[in-house]
Amino acid sequence: MNEVDPLFEVNKRIRSAKFVSRFESIFKCPICNLPMHVFELKSLLCSNNHTFDFARQGYINLTTRQIQSKYSKKLFEARRKLIIEDGFFKPMNRAITDFICQHAPREMEPMSIIDMGCGEGSHLSNICDAMSSYHKKTVTGVGVDISKDGISLASRDYDNKIWIVADLVNTPFRDQQFDVILNILSPSNYAEFNRLLKTDGIVIKVIPQAGYLQELRKTLFDTPEKQVYSNVDTVELFSANYQVIDCLRSSYTVTLNRSSVHSLLMMTPLSWDATENQIRTFLKEESTEVTVDLDVLVGKRRN
Ligand SMILES: C[S@@+](CC[C@H](N)C(=O)[O-])C[C@H]1O[C@@H](n2cnc3c(N)ncnc32)[C@H](O)[C@@H]1O
Ligand SMILES: [Zn+2]
Repeated sequence: MNEVDPLFEVNKRIRSAKFVSRFESIFKCPICNLPMHVFELKSLLCSNNHTFDFARQGYINLTTRQIQSKYSKKLFEARRKLIIEDGFFKPMNRAITDFICQHAPREMEPMSIIDMGCGEGSHLSNICDAMSSYHKKTVTGVGVDISKDGISLASRDYDNKIWIVADLVNTPFRDQQFDVILNILSPSNYAEFNRLLKTDGIVIKVIPQAGYLQELRKTLFDTPEKQVYSNVDTVELFSANYQVIDCLRSSYTVTLNRSSVHSLLMMTPLSWDATENQIRTFLKEESTEVTVDLDVLVGKRRN
């Protein structure tokens, strides 16, 4: 859909406001911390009248200051193409869904999942949809990202989720609202995660392993230190904050055609400083095999 129908947009905003109103009790005002409610299917409002409007795509921007992000609309579109068309992260999404089924508390009750640094929203959407269609769970999905471009794409294309622009360091939600916190290839803030997590909730963090995009690293970086990635410090920090109850190395290769390699170059911060020449070298081949190598860590609170 290139031309956006204005009526569709209004409806989208209203649909979204109606959906959010069912879950308004999870919010707290980012300015004064008071509870919030949906007002006239237009905004989220606290008792001090601090007001945040629904955007026409259906998301809410709950930041209180302008934030610059290096992640652009083009990057998120490229990421979306790789995830949806090339199934680039499919095994990882499947592993997360299985982990949630195995480890999440209160099997029969509705479940709330928040994705911190959700980008354009495909992981959260895939995981929630798999949870409800294959595993018959009632799931509420909340996606948070600091980038308006990412959240805008997520909200435009994925209905029946709550999409919020916010800094994951300081989110506009009340304490202990979530059964599952996802954190996929994004920064973490464990103090904030612990504030949001229910006492028996789980945190699932995905981080790169040594082989992740190694073909790209070898072409783009000339020193061995940059060509080889180690996640030891990140794993240590996660283990210091949580009791690790499960982990899995999700490692595989994906064959990408030239157009998808182009998307790969667009979607990763690794190529932000690449030269034209390096990019051309990578785009020379008709198709390229690329390694995806990730650690999926599952933690729960330390007692
Ligand atoms: C590499 S992308 C991963 C996005 C998504 N999880 C995925 O795997 O497609 C990192 C994401 O973290 C987000 N991010 C970085 N700092 C953030 C912060 N302080 N609060 C919320 N999101 C943040 C970026 O905007 C970006 O969408
Ligand atoms: Zn307020």
